[in-house]
Amino acid sequence: MPTTKPETIEALFLEKRKFPPPAGFQKIAHVKDESIYEKAKANPEAFWESFAKELDWIKPWQKTLEWNPPYAKWFVGGKLNVSANCVDRWAKSAHRNKAAIIWEGEPGDQRTLTYWDLYREVNKFANVLKRLGVKKGDRVAIYLPLIPEAAISMLACARIGAVHSVVFGGFSAEALSDRINDAQAKVLITADGGYRRGGLLPLKHDADYAIKETPSIEHVVIVKRGDFPLRVKEGRDHWWHRLMQDAESFCEPEPMDSEDMLFTLYTSGTTGKPKGIIHTTGGYLTGVYATTKWVFDLQPEDVYWCTADVGWITGHSYMVYGPLANGATVVMYEGSPDWPDKDRFWRIIEKYGVTIFYTAPTAIRTFMKWGKEWPAKCNLSSLRLLGTVGEPINPEAWVWYHEEIGKCKCPVVDTWWQTETGMILITPLPGVTTLKPGSATKPFPGIEAKVLNEAGEEVGVGGGYLALTKPWPAMLRGIYGDPERYEKQYWSKWPKIYFTGDGAKRDEEGYLWLLGRVDDVMNVSGHRISTMEVESALVDHSAVAESAVVSRAHDIKGEAVVAFVTVREGVKSDPKLTEQLKEHVAKKIGSLARPDDIIFSADLPKTRSGKIMRRLLKDIANGKVLGDTTTLADPDVVKHLQKTYEE
Ligand code: WT7
Repeated sequence: MPTTKPETIEALFLEKRKFPPPAGFQKIAHVKDESIYEKAKANPEAFWESFAKELDWIKPWQKTLEWNPPYAKWFVGGKLNVSANCVDRWAKSAHRNKAAIIWEGEPGDQRTLTYWDLYREVNKFANVLKRLGVKKGDRVAIYLPLIPEAAISMLACARIGAVHSVVFGGFSAEALSDRINDAQAKVLITADGGYRRGGLLPLKHDADYAIKETPSIEHVVIVKRGDFPLRVKEGRDHWWHRLMQDAESFCEPEPMDSEDMLFTLYTSGTTGKPKGIIHTTGGYLTGVYATTKWVFDLQPEDVYWCTADVGWITGHSYMVYGPLANGATVVMYEGSPDWPDKDRFWRIIEKYGVTIFYTAPTAIRTFMKWGKEWPAKCNLSSLRLLGTVGEPINPEAWVWYHEEIGKCKCPVVDTWWQTETGMILITPLPGVTTLKPGSATKPFPGIEAKVLNEAGEEVGVGGGYLALTKPWPAMLRGIYGDPERYEKQYWSKWPKIYFTGDGAKRDEEGYLWLLGRVDDVMNVSGHRISTMEVESALVDHSAVAESAVVSRAHDIKGEAVVAFVTVREGVKSDPKLTEQLKEHVAKKIGSLARPDDIIFSADLPKTRSGKIMRRLLKDIANGKVLGDTTTLADPDVVKHLQKTYEE
């Protein structure tokens, strides 16, 4: 059972602070009245339908929900097109010349696409994909930096009914080829490179390695982001701008069934193999549309900036689909927050008059470390709402964010959700919820989230497992090519109940406090990494006999990866090997998975049934037992520790 945080007295004091919605904010908010929770609970289907009705449907649905656990269908029989909802709807209205995407590259270059511009680009690129032979249902892999072409590609796929699979640009060539092969993608969209901290992400170069192993790829489209040297293979590789030159300017949006697949996005689970999470059309769009509108209280004049990369679910739901379905102006920034200096984010807010800012706790802790003088140099008075996502936010960071960035006038929405949930599920409604720093507060109206014990009984006040007891529109519909894993992973702990893998605590007022993962999934800087994946990357190295990976607490990243490694007979476990192993993991998975510590151990502590004792390793990694890990080189020490943990 997960333990209850926080541990420090100071944090406990902060936990008790409360922040009611600012009066001025409440006055104009979409939701001002708490009665919506009761109303949605009484008839959740009618509640979700009211949002679905705000979208454009080609054919209306006949049934709101068909629930055959664990399979849900939403807006059954309805037909719609996501790109038409996100682009055409606004391009053909008074919003035609409103900025849809305000983009800034790391070197300082800028582009603004109005809804009309976006409409033209999406239509043309949809025709390009068709010319390359992409048909409804085909998979298209996207491996791009954060440039407008990422959103254009996604929307163009949606327009013709192709399923996109975006792979974060920070993933390695090997990770990319695994994902392409799993989805059997036909086309890969990439770029010559992307900027990061003044340097270059050599995406096409990595993609070239990846596609040596991916027979399903027929064409590669390359966006020219910089002037980076690369190999272009005649017949297979095509420049984006060349293809766009002769593309027709209109492409009829494909009428998609509400339950047709929109995209798959790979995420790490408790095994070594990432899973392709499946999201469909009508329910997903309704869910992200509704939550973007209410959680961020999106108003027509807002300038909305979500700092996530398009390679993560946040980039899908709250940078592209949710905001554009609402006709919002979205800011996108390609690069690093400290380039060329530590005030880059605040300069962007000032420059574009950003009103809503959504980022991750790890970023906030980094800003705290850099110091408040950086934001203080900029005029942040345009801000009216702040959000966080990705991991639990410590009350100290929450309060700093509220004071130094929000100047005590912006509500902070701490939003809990997952790649699988597709949409935000636990969150304040900024016009009604009294905030408590560190708590994601309450389930969104229409959502049933409960804290359960092992037996599946509800915990009144206290800690347990976070579970979702009713289907919601944007929920995952499965794991690509692996229905068995879908059932086992999420629906087998208790019948007909979705297990999130998170621990949570419920307080006297029914507020939810997220406590982190309770399974073998780590959360490093808000990125999900599986212990098993890192372990397999390590044992793939010739020096390694066995390895066990756990996480330890980290001030900035939330969690850091710690690898316990037993080397093969005759191998010297020296600092050189440590570096080699870290590099090996970065190469196999991506630098986000690079272990902070490698601890060489003569033996790995195991239970009698042969299971690695992760709790012991976690305590060692966190310095709770043994100050000096070098003693792990002595097999007797491991045996002794093991004994004390077995008792
Ligand atoms: C896991 C999902 C959802 C987009 C980013 C991550 C953790 C996410 C919060 C939050 C506490 C959070 C959970 C969850 N998480 N948001 N506000 N408070 N924990 O998506 O990679 O699918 O990871 O991130 O542990 O299970 P993801």
